[in-house]
Amino acid sequence: MAKQILVTGGTGYIGSHTVVELQGKGFDVVVVDDLSNSQITVLDNIEKITGIRPAFEQFNLADRDKTDAFFQKYSNIEAIIHFAAFKAVGESVQKPLEYYRNNLTSLMNLLECMNKYGVKHMVFSSSCTVYGQPDVLPVTEETPRKEAESPYGNTKAICEDIMRDYCATNDKINCIALRYFNPIGAHPTALIGELPVGVPNNLVPFITQTAAGLREELSIFGDDYDTPDGTAIRDYINVVDLAEAHVVAINRMLDEKQKANYEFFNVGTGSGYSVNELVQAFIKVNKVDLKYKIVGRRHGDIEKIWADTSYGNKELGWSASRTLEETLESAWKWEKNVRGIE
Ligand code: UFG
Repeated sequence: MAKQILVTGGTGYIGSHTVVELQGKGFDVVVVDDLSNSQITVLDNIEKITGIRPAFEQFNLADRDKTDAFFQKYSNIEAIIHFAAFKAVGESVQKPLEYYRNNLTSLMNLLECMNKYGVKHMVFSSSCTVYGQPDVLPVTEETPRKEAESPYGNTKAICEDIMRDYCATNDKINCIALRYFNPIGAHPTALIGELPVGVPNNLVPFITQTAAGLREELSIFGDDYDTPDGTAIRDYINVVDLAEAHVVAINRMLDEKQKANYEFFNVGTGSGYSVNELVQAFIKVNKVDLKYKIVGRRHGDIEKIWADTSYGNKELGWSASRTLEETLESAWKWEKNVRGIE
């Protein structure tokens, strides 16, 4: 029988791509999502890609009673990939308690239910935000964490600590935290992708919406950073590469290859690109016009970060393989599909 995996936040951006990769590897996927930041129609599009509609339950995992009822109904779950969380950096500054309550409670509910219902394995969505602005680049897993820049970032750091401390007292529970760098792009079919509500905060959705005519002009936040062209540098990883990393992490746990019952890995490409380089690459590969201007720095932004992926590549036997060009092509193909362009 196929192994059953619970994907929380499975109708979201990274979650939906991970469901597709899991199904492609023969896993039986159950999705839980409260649809607070995603659409139910994502399930139709997952089914179009893989031919399989995942089981679906709509509730918020911060609700302990509903979480209990879920595990009573689905008694064959072998592992969990926990994406479901609030993730808007700016909003988290305005609504810190909502962020702490939602993001921390849902993780603790899941860990308690894992213990109660005998589910051993969890992969957790963490972020390179836990490194802040590192003193030395690229960042390895040994790079010290820094104080979070926002309540959102702090929830990721605290969730890592909760897993570390719980795993230290419970050797039946295994956790892997994946520290994502900047996920971009969409599935090559353009059936699933990133669909932000309202004005996008992130760079690539803002670029694609500007190219599609929904936004007047892209603002590049700062060209006076200490980088070769003055714009900020990030490690942009294709979302399908990132989704694959989750399947690899799940298999590491199921195959009992973990070195400790709590582990964490950087998931990036190992290469940094500046905002300006990314904008120019988007224009070139997609042959589109893009209006942009330089404005002041965005509060809370770090100057530069990219991953040292050598530890993760060695331990997981996996590395990101898609190019920046094909990733930016997939982002534009998705935006055109959503807007009905061409
Ligand atoms: N940027 C612009 N213009 C925009 C949007 C972004 O110039 O309209 C710039 C930003 O200033 C930054 C780069 O593009 O230099 C990337 O910005 P994103 O918002 O796409 O990504 P961030 O690196 O700021 O944020 C990401 C995740 C967060 C996470 C954070 C940790 O989206 O969830 O990394 O650093 F918290």
